Amino acid sequence: MDHTNLPENTKLENEKEPIPEEDAKPENAERREFMIKAGSVCLGGVVAIPPIAAGIAVLMDPLRRKQGDADFTRVTLLDALPEDGTPKKFTIYADKQDAWNKFPNTAIGAIYLCRKSDGKIDAFNVVCPHLGCAVVFRESERDYYCPCHNSAFDLETGTQAPDSPSARGLDSLEVKVENEGEVWVKFQNFQPGIADKKAIV
Ligand code: FES
Repeated sequence: MDHTNLPENTKLENEKEPIPEEDAKPENAERREFMIKAGSVCLGGVVAIPPIAAGIAVLMDPLRRKQGDADFTRVTLLDALPEDGTPKKFTIYADKQDAWNKFPNTAIGAIYLCRKSDGKIDAFNVVCPHLGCAVVFRESERDYYCPCHNSAFDLETGTQAPDSPSARGLDSLEVKVENEGEVWVKFQNFQPGIADKKAIV
């Protein structure tokens, strides 16, 4: 093609823009490349923040949950309890959880259930309120007995004997019967060694 008749300053098709003299210097090219890389790193960091934050929230979640949940636990059936007032011991199972792990169906304590002649049910935590040993039902004396310091507790009320070193009687628990004979207990542990019945949460 004859270009001789084109006006001055007319660009030809496919003719490349000349690189400005300033940008063509090696140091400017390096600086431009550095700025592009730095921008990419910053953008990558911003994009990564939400997943990292979500991960931390999941890890921290157990810490925010309430521990020592004191809901009722289904323990047994009414028919399984002797009608003559003899107490029967039951292990309590529940899902346990610490800050990071969950332990399903774990033994968390034990109770005595006692069915009275009037149909009422008493429940006592087996933990001795003196220093935390386990009491046992003593058939010969018809009472509860702690072998650690020879301490007796009344079968009906859980009250400690006069010579007991315990500052309070056995810790009673809330009981309810539902669904035509299911015995449910609100299991709790209480702080030993003090006169007040103070739940451990
Ligand atoms: S621990 Fe039971 S009487 Fe001391």
